[in-house]
Amino acid sequence: MPATPRSVREQCQGEGAELEPLLQHEQIEGVTRIRINRESALNALTPEMLQDLRGMLENLDRDPGVRVVILTGQKKAFSVGADIKGRVAEYDTGAFRDPLGDIIRDLFGFIGKMSKPVMAALAGYVLGGGLELALACDVRMADASARFGFPEANVGSLPGAGGTQRLPRLVGPSRAMSLMFSGQRIDAAEAFNWGLVDRLVEVGQLEQESLAWAQTMAQKAPLSLAYIKQLVYLAGSTDLTTGLQVEADCHAILRKSKDREEGMRAFVEKRPPHFIGQ
Ligand code: CAA
Repeated sequence: MPATPRSVREQCQGEGAELEPLLQHEQIEGVTRIRINRESALNALTPEMLQDLRGMLENLDRDPGVRVVILTGQKKAFSVGADIKGRVAEYDTGAFRDPLGDIIRDLFGFIGKMSKPVMAALAGYVLGGGLELALACDVRMADASARFGFPEANVGSLPGAGGTQRLPRLVGPSRAMSLMFSGQRIDAAEAFNWGLVDRLVEVGQLEQESLAWAQTMAQKAPLSLAYIKQLVYLAGSTDLTTGLQVEADCHAILRKSKDREEGMRAFVEKRPPHFIGQ
């Protein structure tokens, strides 16, 4: 699944530096791992990078060979959030529009609508928009080096790409506000205790462990994962009666799927199922 030529070649990490893709991706069986690759700026997010990520994810969502997506970064940073230097340049040009804000909200919303699980694999700094990106993913694994924070109030801003809404839903309003009011960071163990991170691994184990976790998911029936994802998100925005009704409807749809029959037969025949996503 090729990235656009611009995403691969347009931006470099310093004048005269060798051009490198800002988003790298690799496919390992049913799992695609996307790595944010802007190490010199601690993976600060630019509008172009986010647009390219959106394009990549759209392609992956359409590709039946892709069952799970992992989003990851570098050892020192998953991402420190918005590119502040680019934001200052916007002031210099007197721009009132917020190109990064529009793109980032659209992208993070799209992750939740994708039919496949999207996992954030986190090390180093996970700050600002970087933390919001991690929160927009469906599940999160971190290694012990990860540090989480919302420094927006330091620069007169607020977590405006879903942070004020998604974090309290995961960890409760008081913990969410303590992070946002203070601008202080919490370490990986505390994030795990809060429920911000679902799985915690040793430094050096993130790549291997996140892939193993993703491969476990990739072996499941794709339609099951797609419906589970949409139903769980629905649970956060609807009343119980409605949620239970939609759940029953989705369950009835799955009962007629080929993969449901395959799963049952494979169990009885004591063999692994072969799911086709239908
Ligand atoms: N944007 C652009 N460049 C950034 C950056 C950012 N958010 N954060 C770090 N960098 C750059 C630094 O300018 C530096 O580049 P130079 O060497 O060219 O000066 C390089 O990354 C390394 O950074 P430091 O030397 O500062 O590294 P450090 O280890 O001493 O400190 C840090 C790391 C604590 C993360 C510190 O860089 C920092 O506080 N960064 C700002 C983080 C921040 O405020 N993020 C929130 C942005 S707002 C947002 O995300 C909201 C939204 O709407 C999406």
